Amino acid sequence: MRLAITGAEGQLGRSLQQVFAAQEMLLLDLPPWDITSEETISFLVRWAPDLVIHAAAMTDVDGCERDPDAAFSVNGQGTRKVALACQRCKATMVCISTDYVFEGTKDEPYLESDEPHPINIYGESKLEGERHVQELLRHYYIVRTAWLYGPGGRNFVEKVLQLAEERPELHYVVTEVGSPTYTRDLAEGISRLVRHPQYGIYHLTNEGSCSRYEFARAILDLGGRGEFPLYPAESYPRLAKPPPHAVLANIRAAKLGIRLRPWPEALVAYFQERSDG
Ligand SMILES: NC(=O)c1ccc[n+]([C@@H]2O[C@H](COP(=O)([O-])OP(=O)(O)OC[C@H]3O[C@@H](n4cnc5c(N)ncnc54)[C@H](OP(=O)(O)O)[C@@H]3O)[C@@H](O)[C@H]2O)c1
Repeated sequence: MRLAITGAEGQLGRSLQQVFAAQEMLLLDLPPWDITSEETISFLVRWAPDLVIHAAAMTDVDGCERDPDAAFSVNGQGTRKVALACQRCKATMVCISTDYVFEGTKDEPYLESDEPHPINIYGESKLEGERHVQELLRHYYIVRTAWLYGPGGRNFVEKVLQLAEERPELHYVVTEVGSPTYTRDLAEGISRLVRHPQYGIYHLTNEGSCSRYEFARAILDLGGRGEFPLYPAESYPRLAKPPPHAVLANIRAAKLGIRLRPWPEALVAYFQERSDG
């Protein structure tokens, strides 16, 4: 199989490279491969992949709020261009999307069939990308995931450990609940999913959920900073409002036998991978 990965140097992209190492791969990322440019799209079409995993995105959620044009250009129109490339070379597309397409006010986990309703620019721009994929292609998987962390990434885990070195105490909210997800597990889940020609929307996260505060507690414990003063907070001032309770129910992939392990186990595995270098 010929596989193209966009965002190949991001945290998920790196895990995808590991998991799909046996395949012939085209790795696209900035610089120089900007998914919004015609050169990149023509190059992708000429390479003629069988499968495109589209992980490139503007993922800085507050940055999207500051610069909506850039967010819609990459996450909306950029995704449309990648979908058009897939159409032209008859490739199957995996489009990575997010829990942020939901408003996060439902008490129960969100089903794949629930109507999205984003509450910030990042979520809106990612939803626009999803809609283009659905309009342009029949052979697609939209994989919504959440709270990603993986090797080499600028992620919540690394941020908490770094701040614990720099500050006397930390405060994290109990009012934002989600499912931390290890990119390695997600990449493996995707590799299993693409063997099934059952297209459409999937929710794939590590199982279980926690607040940012609980996640930070687990990170400090595993990072050998169990004594570090960490306090629960009700709110945190930031530009983009996150969905308060955007837990995703994995219904469709579970029917195919694909489930990601519980998030605390996955976090232990990440720390192991980190210490193995
Ligand atoms: N991170 C999360 O918590 C999270 C949660 C749910 C869903 N997702 C989705 O999961 C996917 C992977 O996320 P991630 O955490 O691996 O993100 P990431 O580490 O930020 O990686 C994204 C990669 O895409 C690249 N990129 C950005 N704009 C591009 C463009 N115009 N053309 C080509 N490449 C471009 C980035 O390059 P630069 O670094 O140079 O910008 C980066 O290497 C994304 O679709 C994201 O929306 C992420």
